[in-house]
Amino acid sequence: MGGSGIVCDMIYSVLYSSSEVPVTVVKDFQIPRWTSKNSLLCAISYSGNTLETLNTVLKALEVGAEVCVVTSGGKLLDLARVKGLPHVVVDGGLIPRAAFPQLLIATVKLLSTYGVNICSDLKSLTNVLRDVEPISKTSKGLADFLKNSLPVVISNMRFYPLAMRFKDELNENSKMMAKVELVPEWAHNDIVGWELPLSIVKSLVIWDDDLVIEFLIEYLRGRGVELEVLKLLGDDLLSKMLYGSYIAGLTSVYLAELRGVKAEETKSIDMYKEFLRRRVK
Ligand code: PA5
Repeated sequence: MGGSGIVCDMIYSVLYSSSEVPVTVVKDFQIPRWTSKNSLLCAISYSGNTLETLNTVLKALEVGAEVCVVTSGGKLLDLARVKGLPHVVVDGGLIPRAAFPQLLIATVKLLSTYGVNICSDLKSLTNVLRDVEPISKTSKGLADFLKNSLPVVISNMRFYPLAMRFKDELNENSKMMAKVELVPEWAHNDIVGWELPLSIVKSLVIWDDDLVIEFLIEYLRGRGVELEVLKLLGDDLLSKMLYGSYIAGLTSVYLAELRGVKAEETKSIDMYKEFLRRRVK
């Protein structure tokens, strides 16, 4: 879920075009009916106390699936230790979404021990993050552009985890509502809504060399929609998403400053988790 779940989305997106076995992301209390002793469930929860994630682990163990874990502690780590599940412990003490790079690298490494190849060169993966100044400049520009708007982040399916990450960061750090649209599906329904766009809406398009993205930009501009196009640095999908995530994080923190809110605080999520703790035995 949330900042931990986005790691799964990114890995899913990479495996979509390379894995010969079916892969899915579970963000629920339930696991798919087809989960069996031939399945591998990789559970990621930074706190280790997210009930949705804990539940999927218990259910996967019930059907005899192989389970591995990435966490900083909590009940998930206790469970991994008691059941002897392969696990990686990342540094604690951060807010989950800020632990994203750690969680990603830990998961890539853990999955590689099962022969799942997501990234063969982890060192060069972070090269795109080194030049902080232009990243910060781009992020400040985006924060200015998006303030006082309802941002709609649009990407193609390859980059959907990044579009989600952008939305999540705006939600959690900047306390803003935001929406995600994905092409080509966008062109089969949402497109019609843009015939009469609300004036509060601004669009952030994640660029990819994709005919539908080209069409979308031309279409939205033609309707007078204010939009920015984010071009990503990086040699492959994962490094591009990492670069984009950095920009998403910084943009959302600059927006938090502009809006006078505390980026690290997520009172409503705490309220939800407290409710679940009281109600789920
Ligand atoms: O970033 C956040 O704080 C949230 O999105 C959390 O990641 C989410 O609530 C799940 O918690 P955890 O990552 O500890 O499993």
